Amino acid sequence: MRLLDTISALRAQIEGDVAGVASREDAERFRLTHLVKKGTLQACVDELRSVPKEDKPVVGKALNELRTLAEIAYEQAVATYGAPAPVPTIDTTLPGRGVRVGAVHPITQSVQKLVEIFGSMGFEVAEGPDVEDDDHNFGKLNFAEDHPARDMQDTFFVDAADRADVLLRTHTSSVQVRVMQSMKPPIRCIMPGRVYRNEAVSARSLAEFHQIEGLYIDKGVSMADLKGTIMEFARRFYDAHAEFRFRTSYFPFTEPSCEIDMSCFLCKGDGCRICKHSGWLEICGAGMVHPNVLRACGIDPEEYSGFAFGFGVERVVLMMTGIDDIRMLYDNDLRVLGQFR
Ligand code: PHE
Repeated sequence: MRLLDTISALRAQIEGDVAGVASREDAERFRLTHLVKKGTLQACVDELRSVPKEDKPVVGKALNELRTLAEIAYEQAVATYGAPAPVPTIDTTLPGRGVRVGAVHPITQSVQKLVEIFGSMGFEVAEGPDVEDDDHNFGKLNFAEDHPARDMQDTFFVDAADRADVLLRTHTSSVQVRVMQSMKPPIRCIMPGRVYRNEAVSARSLAEFHQIEGLYIDKGVSMADLKGTIMEFARRFYDAHAEFRFRTSYFPFTEPSCEIDMSCFLCKGDGCRICKHSGWLEICGAGMVHPNVLRACGIDPEEYSGFAFGFGVERVVLMMTGIDDIRMLYDNDLRVLGQFR
């Protein structure tokens, strides 16, 4: 019987190999030679098929004994030398893939910084709804019935079943009204938020953008407090050595009203791309809260006075970064946003 001869030859080989195992690498080599599907023992099992039926019990028994011997020898080797080292699945020679770390959007970064600076001056954050009514957005803010800002051109009105005065707030001044209605002076609040205007989207304007408004109401608040507050903020946020100019302006809800310019932090007034070669940057609109507004919100203008100011956050970001197309802030292109960490 040829197979029986093969088995006894294999037995001699296996016993020799077992005697030669002296490390876990040897044990593994032993397993791969004899115990796997393509190993020597399985080759004999495959040949068993061609053995005549009457010889099978004898040959099968010899083969089983040898397999048991080989398996026990292997288990002992593993017990002595340890299991084989795992096959590495990571190719450490490949170049690594960088980890991308997210960052806060430049708009949010600016809002956070503004809130932090005004916070250090005692202003607390107040918020209000984006969907407003005409009264909070215009009426209480002393907008005349026929004021052009109420026009369909500027304001997104909301289709509401039973009322015609629902709109998306066009400025954060609506929160001013809510704050005055719900708090007693002294009031020192800063109000960041999203605002909406029915404007054509262009490099300079969006239909949805952010403002931060400030409101300060107490006894004896004057224009000097307004100037001091804005200048302190702008020096800390933009440029410690800036110069300022207050231009008269008009807002229905402030009297007097002004717009505030700061000498350009980049060119210091010589003229550059950031300031459009004027030497000045417009930083915000502001003014003393109109007595009509105070009265409409339940605050006695004989006893209290206050100031309000409003920043366009996107404008602030464009100024600080030199980005000249406001749409870039919303394209979510990481090549742009990744630069502001
Ligand atoms: N609400 C004004 C605007 O949207 C800005 C502003 C706020 C002006 C507060 C004065 C005081 O243009």
